[in-house]
Amino acid sequence: MEEKISEISRLKDLAVSEIQSATNAKELDEVRVKYLGKKGELTSILRSMGSLAPEERPVIGGKVNEARDELEVLIKSGEEKFAKQELERKLKEETIDITLPSTKVKRGSKHPLNRIIEEVEDLFVSMGYDVVAGPELETDEYCFERLNLPKGHPARDMQDSFYITSEYLLRTQTSAVQARAMMDNEEKAPIRIICPGKTYRRDDDATHSHQFSQVEGLVIDKNISLADLKGTLEVFVRKMLGENLQLRFRPSYFPFTEPSYEVDVSCFKCGGKGCNLCKQTGWIEVLGSGIVHPNVLKMNGYNPDKYTGFAFGTGLDRLAMFKYGITDIRLLYQNDVRFLSQFDRLDR
Ligand code: DAH
Repeated sequence: MEEKISEISRLKDLAVSEIQSATNAKELDEVRVKYLGKKGELTSILRSMGSLAPEERPVIGGKVNEARDELEVLIKSGEEKFAKQELERKLKEETIDITLPSTKVKRGSKHPLNRIIEEVEDLFVSMGYDVVAGPELETDEYCFERLNLPKGHPARDMQDSFYITSEYLLRTQTSAVQARAMMDNEEKAPIRIICPGKTYRRDDDATHSHQFSQVEGLVIDKNISLADLKGTLEVFVRKMLGENLQLRFRPSYFPFTEPSYEVDVSCFKCGGKGCNLCKQTGWIEVLGSGIVHPNVLKMNGYNPDKYTGFAFGTGLDRLAMFKYGITDIRLLYQNDVRFLSQFDRLDR
C-alpha cells in the first residue's frame, strides 16, 4: 500500500516536471496521454485496483484522483498559455501596417477618340438623329459609284485607296454610309443619321494616318435647305470646339453634293488673329459639306423633285487633336499608355 502511494506521488512529480518543461501544445498533450490517457501510467493504477485489498481501494483511488485533478489543472493552464502564445504570434505575424502606402491600382481611361465620338453622338442624338454603322470593307459601288463618282472619275484620285479586289476596298470615306442609308430605307422616308467610323487611305505622316476616323451626317427631307445645314454645323462646331467660334463656308467641290462647301472655323487658338496653328490665316478647315446632289438622291431611290438633303463629313482625329492639343495623329493609334494615361485625368 505504501509502495503504491509513493508510486503515485512519483508518477505525479514526474508528470508535473514534464508538464512544466513542455514547450508547446503538442508536447503538453503527449504528457497528458502518457499519464492520463486510456493507457496512461496513472490510469493503469486505477485499472489494476482489482488486485488490491478492498479497504485499500478507496485510499488508492482517492490518491490517483487527487493526482489526476492536480495534473489536469496544470495541463489546462498550460494549454491556455500555449493558445495565448499562438494567438499572439498570429496577430503579430498578420499585422497590417495601415500607414504603409498602398500599391497603386492602375485604371484604364477612355481613349480620346472615343471621347470625341461619344460627344458627337450625344449631341446629334439630342437633335433627333440616329447613329448608324456601315462596313469598313466596302464595295466600289457604295464608296464611289452611288455617290456620283463613276469609275474613272478624276475626283477618285483624291482618295488613293486600299483595294482588296477590283470591287472591294477599305472605305476611304464614311460617305459610303450615305448611299447605304438611302438604299436601306425601303419606304424612301426622311433620313436623319450620323455615322462615326474608321476610314482608310494611303497616307502616313504627322497629320495623316493610313487609318483614321470620320463622322458622316446625312439629312433628307422635304424642304431641306442650306440654312438647315448652316444652323446644324454651327451647333456642331461650337459644341465641339468653342461657343464663340465663327464659321466660314467656302465654295468647294465634292461629287456627291451641289453646291459643296468646305467649312472653316475661326482659329480657337488665337481667336482669328493668326498663329502657327491656323498658319497665320485666322481660319482652320474642319468640314466638308453640301446639298445632296440630285444624282445621288436619284441613284439611291429618292425622288429629287420631292426631297432635298444636306450632308457633311469631318475627321474625328482632327477634332480630337484640336480639342486636346495633340500634335501627331499617329499617337491616336499607337496605344502607348504614356500617351493614353494622360486622359484619365478627365475622368476625375
Ligand atoms: N467624304 C468627304 C471626305 O472624306 C467629306 C465630305 C464632304 C462628306 C462633303 C460629305 C460632304 O458628306 O457632303 O473628304
